[in-house]
Amino acid sequence: MRAVVRETRLTADRLVAGFFVRHGKGLRQAISSLPGVSRLSPDEAVAEAQELRSLGVPAVILFGIPEKKDDTGSEAWDDGAAVQETVRRLKKEVPEILVVTDVCLDEYTSHGHCGVIRDGEVDNDATLPLLAKVALAQARAGSDVVAPSDMMDGRVGAIRRALDGNGFEQTAILAYSAKSASAFYGPFREAADSAPKFGDRRGYQMDASNGREMMREIALDLEEGADAVMVKPALAYFDVIRQARDRFDAPIAAYNVSGEYAMVKAAAANGWIDEKRIVLEILTGIVRAGADFVITYHARDAARWLKEGG
Ligand code: PBG
Repeated sequence: MRAVVRETRLTADRLVAGFFVRHGKGLRQAISSLPGVSRLSPDEAVAEAQELRSLGVPAVILFGIPEKKDDTGSEAWDDGAAVQETVRRLKKEVPEILVVTDVCLDEYTSHGHCGVIRDGEVDNDATLPLLAKVALAQARAGSDVVAPSDMMDGRVGAIRRALDGNGFEQTAILAYSAKSASAFYGPFREAADSAPKFGDRRGYQMDASNGREMMREIALDLEEGADAVMVKPALAYFDVIRQARDRFDAPIAAYNVSGEYAMVKAAAANGWIDEKRIVLEILTGIVRAGADFVITYHARDAARWLKEGG
C-alpha cells in the first residue's frame, strides 16, 4: 500500500557524486573532515566512476587539486591539469557517465579567492575572461557540463559566448545560482585547501537571509543561458529549492554540501544516528523540496542502499 501511494521516489539516477582529483597514479588520499571521500588520481577516479555506473549513478562532478597555485589560478585552464586529464580518461574509459566540471579559481589561486584581486578586492569583470578560459579548457577535454561556482556577475553569459564561439554549442551550463556565503563549506575548503587567505566570500556569494534575491540570481543566470540552476547548500534552504521549483521550469539541482555530509558522518561514527536511514531521508527530502538532481558525497553509499532495497 505504501509503495503505490508514495509521492516522492528517491532513485540513484538523481544523484551526482562529487570527486576531488589530483595528479598521480593509484592515489586515494583520505580527507579527514570528509570520511569516506578521497582525493583521487585520474585512474582511481575512473575506477570509482565505473562502480558508480554499476550502481546506477549517472554523473560525477569534478573538483581539482592543483600542483601549484598562483595569483590568477592559471593551472585551472591548463590542458594538462588534473581535472582536464580526468575528464579525458572518463570520457574514454567510462563513456556512459555524464561528466560535470566545477568552474572556479579558488582551488587554484594563492589567495584562495574565486577571482583576481585588485586593490585588495575581487575584480568581478577582470575575472570573467579567466572563467571563460577555464570552461573552454574543460570543454576541450570533453566535459559535458561546466558548472561555474565562482558567483561573479555575468559569468554565465561570458562562458556561453566563449563556448559557442569555439564550437562547443553542445556543452551545457549548470549555474551555481543561489549559492550562499555558507559555513557549511568548511570541510570542502580543507579537502581542496581553498580557504581564502584574507577576508571572506561575502562580497560575491549570497547572504543566506535573502531568498527573494536568490530567485533574482536564478532568473539572471537563466537569461544569460544557463541550462540548469543550483541551490547550495541544501538542508537550510529547502524553502529556496521549493520556491525555485514553483517559479522556474529549468532543471534544478541542489548541492548537499561537505558540511552537511560531515555532520551526518560524525554523528554516525559516534553511534548517535542511523546513517543509512538519515542519508536516505535527507536525500528524499531534497527531492521532495523540488530538486531534480542532488550533488552529494553520499552518492555511492545511497545508491548501494537503494539497490539493496532502501
Ligand atoms: C568553489 C566551490 C566550493 C564548493 C563547491 N565549489 C567552496 C566555496 O565556495 O568555498 C563547496 C562544496 C562543498 O562544501 O561541498 N570552487
